[in-house]
Amino acid sequence: MQRSAADGYQQSSLSEQKVDGEVFIQTDVCPKIGDVILDLGCGTGELSAYLAELVGPEGKVIGVDPDKERIQLAKETHNQIENLSFVKRSAINFPGIGAEVYDIVFSNCALHWMGNKQQVFNNMFQSLKVGGKLTVQYMSYLP
Ligand SMILES: C[S@@+](CC[C@H](N)C(=O)[O-])C[C@H]1O[C@@H](n2cnc3c(N)ncnc32)[C@H](O)[C@@H]1O
Repeated sequence: MQRSAADGYQQSSLSEQKVDGEVFIQTDVCPKIGDVILDLGCGTGELSAYLAELVGPEGKVIGVDPDKERIQLAKETHNQIENLSFVKRSAINFPGIGAEVYDIVFSNCALHWMGNKQQVFNNMFQSLKVGGKLTVQYMSYLP
């Protein structure tokens, strides 16, 4: 069976990238029950699903990615999780910019792919609630 690029990506992301992301979440992100979280550059949503589990039904996670196939696969894979939704957008136009709606803006392994980081950081800050947390892990260079 021929696999789509998004499917291949999903399989490969399940190993090291997912484990590293989960450690980052446990040690630095530390979500609380009820938190509303944006996962920027969510790919196929494996870490978004983990975050949704940690915030519980009182909380909510929105995964955003500009890649149509990855977002589609994220929706299909995690469609049973009620407090998780996915939106095809980018770091420049995700939902909530300027509205102070998130307790945590999270991004793993994605920021090094994004241009105009100044704009991206502005958008992330503007979408955070007062006292909210920006938690970003990315590479300083692309190998
Ligand atoms: C290596 S994947 C990481 C996925 C996920 N965060 C994880 O850790 O498993 C990087 C993701 O960043 C996304 N990305 C690239 N440019 C972006 C942008 N401008 N805004 C949001 N996401 C972007 C890509 O489409 C890709 O799915």
